[in-house]
Amino acid sequence: MAIGAIQALELAGRNIYVREGCYTCHSQQIRPFRDEVERYGHYSLAAESMYDHPFQWGSKRTGPDLARVGGRYSDEWHRAHMVDPRSVVPESIMPPYAFLANRELKIKDMSSHLKALSRVGVPYSKEAIAAADSDLKAQADPDADTSEMAKRYPKAQFRDFDGDPSRLTEMDAVIAYLQMLGTLVDVEKAKAQQPANKVDAGQGGSK
Ligand code: HEC
Repeated sequence: MAIGAIQALELAGRNIYVREGCYTCHSQQIRPFRDEVERYGHYSLAAESMYDHPFQWGSKRTGPDLARVGGRYSDEWHRAHMVDPRSVVPESIMPPYAFLANRELKIKDMSSHLKALSRVGVPYSKEAIAAADSDLKAQADPDADTSEMAKRYPKAQFRDFDGDPSRLTEMDAVIAYLQMLGTLVDVEKAKAQQPANKVDAGQGGSK
């Protein structure tokens, strides 16, 4: 099945997500039970995390599952939420991550990072590996020419994410990552190509 790899900026956001331990409160795996599917959307398919190293499935949810959070909120919402979760969700117990907006994103040779991932099977082309650093910067730069990059990453979203187009921050990377979650796979198409699956929504035993 044709599922692409994630763009370098999203990958940088994913690294920050891991660094900050977001996974200690958030899973990225929707289980095939009715209550989960009604809340979060279609249950997760194996294909959706096949290129995740390390995977972010998780079994503990202090906060909601994030497997399909991409596109659910605006960038502005994410920004406000990360800076001060209680400004948008008054009962939230999520810690604030305001510092991400003030930290310039350090780019430490994304080409090597993509190359390492390609060795374990993530489909990064030679061109994508060579262009990783410039692709990373261009994704959040409204003035960049993204035509070549769009061919490499047909589903990637190109725009400034943190509300400050003059700077590339860790906030840009994390929001780019969050906005891409659950958007790479056309679930209905993928299901049709999967071997028959006995598990169906709502038929699960224990929770
Ligand atoms: C101590 C636990 C905890 C940690 C750590 C944590 N979160 Fe949360 N998160 C929550 C809780 C609880 C909610 C639900 C209330 C809310 O929306 O703020 C939440 C909600 C969210 C939502 C909204 C999800 C939705 O569907 O409404 C996003 C996005 C999110 N967190 C991202 C992150 C990111 C990114 C990090 C790491 C930088 C992180 N969280 C770290 C507890 C946590």
